[in-house]
Amino acid sequence: MPDVNIEMMVGWLIEYMEEGAEKMIQMDMAGKVTLITGAGGGIGGGIANVFAQAGAKVCVADLELEEAVAKADSLVKQGYRAEAVGLDVTRKDEVDRLVERLVKENGRIDHLINCAGIAVSKPYMESTEEEFRKILEVNLIAVDTCCRAVLAKMIPRREGKIVNILSASSRMGGDFYSHYSASKFALLGLTQSIGLAAARHNINVNGICPGLIVTKLGEKQGGGLVQQMAKYSGKPEDLLQENLRKSIPLRRFQSAEDIGYMALFLCSDLAANITCQAINVCGGMRMN
Ligand SMILES: NC(=O)c1ccc[n+]([C@@H]2O[C@H](COP(=O)([O-])OP(=O)(O)OC[C@H]3O[C@@H](n4cnc5c(N)ncnc54)[C@H](O)[C@@H]3O)[C@@H](O)[C@H]2O)c1
Repeated sequence: MPDVNIEMMVGWLIEYMEEGAEKMIQMDMAGKVTLITGAGGGIGGGIANVFAQAGAKVCVADLELEEAVAKADSLVKQGYRAEAVGLDVTRKDEVDRLVERLVKENGRIDHLINCAGIAVSKPYMESTEEEFRKILEVNLIAVDTCCRAVLAKMIPRREGKIVNILSASSRMGGDFYSHYSASKFALLGLTQSIGLAAARHNINVNGICPGLIVTKLGEKQGGGLVQQMAKYSGKPEDLLQENLRKSIPLRRFQSAEDIGYMALFLCSDLAANITCQAINVCGGMRMN
């Protein structure tokens, strides 16, 4: 029987707890491969920063190749691992080809973050069926395409995490973003359903509902929410933006990195028991 006294046992316990605490806060993604769609944009770019800083090799995929290259280059210059890819998520052939190549080169895809998205902001009666179809194609059907392609590679390994970027508009409709909101409500349902199907393969699928982040969202579709509200109300953009900020209980817009931190948590071992959830990161704007 070794000579063990109470001081030694307390010492071991403290050492054990300190090791545990270190593991808990590190969220080390070294050796992991993260595919982020829409990562040339605002939120996707912030998510790419966070995963790269955590040590993952990040695939920055975006329809806008120039934006993707700029993001990946800036990460590589800072000493992180990143590559840029031009990708139209609505093209199944492009998605399948990219996933095949990533797995061939890296042996794995650990995380898929579906962040590519578009928005049309205008009063419901002025929005068109054509716009609605396009929004559904990018925000909903393409997420399904990306999930299927990546799940086919994750399932045999019984390992992987998927995070879909939903919206505060997944919880509440709005006159100015009716079709966008419909696409994000539907994406919430899809996230839960894919999460159920993937759970039996030990794969977690979750969503994040960001509140308000100032990005270029909607610009290519005729203007973002604030610009469109200004156009229709005749009120100045900065006043409308300030009113929106004041409508957030924490009185601040979210940052792209705020969404990245939640995505990182959901992809970490700390979130092993979380799946089929949609988590609000919105400064208290939504509570359901
Ligand atoms: N900005 C916000 O306040 C906010 C709030 C809630 C949810 N979101 C969601 O966050 C996601 C990112 O939005 P963002 O605010 O960063 O906007 P953003 O416009 O800055 O980024 C979106 C990116 O998606 C890319 N994209 C569009 N269509 C694509 C396609 N077919 N294939 C590949 N890439 C495509 C764009 O090129 C762009 O880089 C979207 O899904 C959006 O709905 C944004």
